Amino acid sequence: MSINKYQKQSIKKYDKIATNYDQTLEGKATAKSKVKILEMVEPADGDKVLDVGCGNGSLIGAVKKKANIEAYGVDVSSGMIEECRERFKEITFQIAVCENLPFEDEELDIITMNCVLHHLKDPQAFYREAHRVLKPNGTLLVGELWYPAVVKQFVDWIILPLLRAGDNKLFSHGKLKRMATDNGFSLGRIYKKGSVQIVEAIKEL
Ligand SMILES: C[S@@+](CC[C@H](N)C(=O)[O-])C[C@H]1O[C@@H](n2cnc3c(N)ncnc32)[C@H](O)[C@@H]1O
Repeated sequence: MSINKYQKQSIKKYDKIATNYDQTLEGKATAKSKVKILEMVEPADGDKVLDVGCGNGSLIGAVKKKANIEAYGVDVSSGMIEECRERFKEITFQIAVCENLPFEDEELDIITMNCVLHHLKDPQAFYREAHRVLKPNGTLLVGELWYPAVVKQFVDWIILPLLRAGDNKLFSHGKLKRMATDNGFSLGRIYKKGSVQIVEAIKEL
């Protein structure tokens, strides 16, 4: 697989913090939206559910407890995937990128993604892949950090390039919704409170 600049930086960063991710500032900052996605996701017995950019597996591990599902996780960081395999033996994890998912067309019922979209060079490529691998009427739940426009500009143009930690650009709430509707999804439930935004997208029939 060919690796772009953002993926390369992410691998370097997340391999390093994989074993103590939950205790890092970032682990704590992304926890709120993870809890909200977990609250919103509604798997049924027999569903195939994938968490994309699964980190240390905590979200898919918790989703697995909600129903008798076939659970999957993918992440670009081999360190994170090793951590997942240690923690959750009954879940299938693979090293893979969001932009090229190792699943067949219309194979999955639900996809979750927490705080990963802003890492992607081409977020549209992820939406196209999610649309391809989801069954008709399948659900995609995307959580992202939200900041007011001025703060977002500052973070996008000054902070993230300085950090060189695999982050591309944050998403406004309008843009996060448009990502779904521009790629063949209709909007489901929407959540936005403080720095947390979640957009549920349903693959149209
Ligand atoms: C902020 S962490 C979030 C981890 C997890 N989703 C959570 O909420 O705890 C971002 C994760 O996305 C992964 N990642 C970044 N770019 C990726 C890509 N292009 N494909 C797959 N995973 C990616 C990183 O390795 C990292 O585990």
